[in-house]
Amino acid sequence: MSRVSILNGVNLGTLGTRRPDVYGTMTLDDIQKLVRDEFPDLDLEFRQTDFEGEMVGFIREASASDGLIINAGAWTHYSYALHDALESLDVPKVEVHLSNVHRREEWRRHSVISPVVDSVVAGMGAHGYVAAIRYLVARISRPQ
Ligand code: DQA
Repeated sequence: MSRVSILNGVNLGTLGTRRPDVYGTMTLDDIQKLVRDEFPDLDLEFRQTDFEGEMVGFIREASASDGLIINAGAWTHYSYALHDALESLDVPKVEVHLSNVHRREEWRRHSVISPVVDSVVAGMGAHGYVAAIRYLVARISRPQ
């Protein structure tokens, strides 16, 4: 059974009430249920933290997984620590954003982690996680 780590960073635990106009009304638990229902045959490790160092630990632990999805929240835009941790991780990696970061504030357009992941999904809401997992499943079953 393939294992995929789905890591969510700072402030993503408040989904559901946080800016529903931007992020929708689903909570992180709702998103977790959606992806588990969609991929019953995968071993999905779903995690969230508001602590950057803990996220670095989660990224390192993902070396035991076949693929990684990360929504790093605001860390996306400035955390060189997450950049370096992801750079050292040798599994297929997808960066996910619920919102279309390119049509928001200027500072959200830049990601310091994009150069060290394989692909980026933005603006699909919760569907972005599903799309990212589909891509990883294809990569895992047919490596490039
Ligand atoms: C986000 C976009 C980030 O800019 C923001 O800081 C978040 C959520 C998204 O999923 O759209 O916390 O990563």
